[in-house]
Amino acid sequence: MTGYLPNQQRYEQMSYQPCGIHGLKLSRISLGLWHNFGDTANQDISRQLIRHAFDLGITHFDLANNYGPPPGSAEENFGKILRHDLAAYRDEIVISTKAGYVMWDGPYGDGGSKKYLVSSLNQSLKRLGLDYVDIFYHHRPDAQTPLEETMTALDLIVRQGKALYVGLSNYPPELAQKAAEILKSLGTPCIIHQPKYSMFQRTPEQGLFDVLTEQGIGCIPFSPLAGGLLPDRYLKGIPEDSRAAKDARFLKPEDITEAKLDIIRNLNELAQARDQKLSQMALQWVLRQPAVTSVLIGASKTSQLDDAAAILSQKPLQQTDIDAIEAILTP
Ligand SMILES: NC(=O)c1ccc[n+]([C@@H]2O[C@H](COP(=O)([O-])OP(=O)(O)OC[C@H]3O[C@@H](n4cnc5c(N)ncnc54)[C@H](OP(=O)(O)O)[C@@H]3O)[C@@H](O)[C@H]2O)c1
Repeated sequence: MTGYLPNQQRYEQMSYQPCGIHGLKLSRISLGLWHNFGDTANQDISRQLIRHAFDLGITHFDLANNYGPPPGSAEENFGKILRHDLAAYRDEIVISTKAGYVMWDGPYGDGGSKKYLVSSLNQSLKRLGLDYVDIFYHHRPDAQTPLEETMTALDLIVRQGKALYVGLSNYPPELAQKAAEILKSLGTPCIIHQPKYSMFQRTPEQGLFDVLTEQGIGCIPFSPLAGGLLPDRYLKGIPEDSRAAKDARFLKPEDITEAKLDIIRNLNELAQARDQKLSQMALQWVLRQPAVTSVLIGASKTSQLDDAAAILSQKPLQQTDIDAIEAILTP
């Protein structure tokens, strides 16, 4: 794979939306590198996925210090792809990384202290081969560190020029609001929040979306397909090339219950009646939320990226569809 020239029509087929009230726009579909980019992944496929995503107008790539396996390797591998294929396009790309989960041994490799966040981002920049990332997130709340310290660390990182913007992930509504207020007072607003949200995981509807809207913060839900469980992929058993077969740490075969499969079967019929795949209806359903800036998908094949990008030209969900989905999800 050499001599990559991106598709010249890429910006015509994607749409872009600002993060809340802020200036940064994200592609409505973003690609996450949690799976399929570590050292155990086929590197040619990883590279194809990034190129293909960029060709579709996806400008936002989401990482974290611990993505792999082993932890750190997704950043390293993405750094190589950037240098080989996308070096000339750095200013057309938004790169995010995070720290918050355990990354190295000892008291400074986990949590939300200034010590951890600053050194973790320094390590991420080295692995990525970059001077700065576009968005740096605190990956999850840390009850053992004062919120002020974590937010001051995010502010410092921006002032040092190591990140342009900051975001928060997995913060519950009240804490997200407090954190946003502290960041605003420091002059480094939180521009985006990354919660888990899908038809199977609806916690953000209980207050988080309201807080984000009130505060003018963007929202980028992760695992919108419940890690691949939601599409029709598991209706006939566990395919060999699926996440549940290849890396069952995060999608365990025992989580694929008959009750969930029943729901998926009913949703699948509804999607077929709308002339789309269930994966597509599930992404449209996430994007229907006014608070949502972009939907953060994962992919193991380029055809999955095509499926996702195609939703932008499909018929949007009507209220009758939303009601029918609701009736299946909460009978
Ligand atoms: N902030 C956080 O705490 C946090 C946590 C988790 C994830 N994230 C971010 O969110 C990103 C996405 O998470 P995720 O990978 O769990 O998202 P997801 O979109 O729910 O799941 C992606 C998986 O769904 C399957 N899939 C995708 N398109 C499909 C299609 N058209 N038809 C059938 N199956 C399809 C694929 O699984 P197969 O491999 O089976 O093909 C793919 O790997 C991560 O990469 C990461 O950047 C953030």
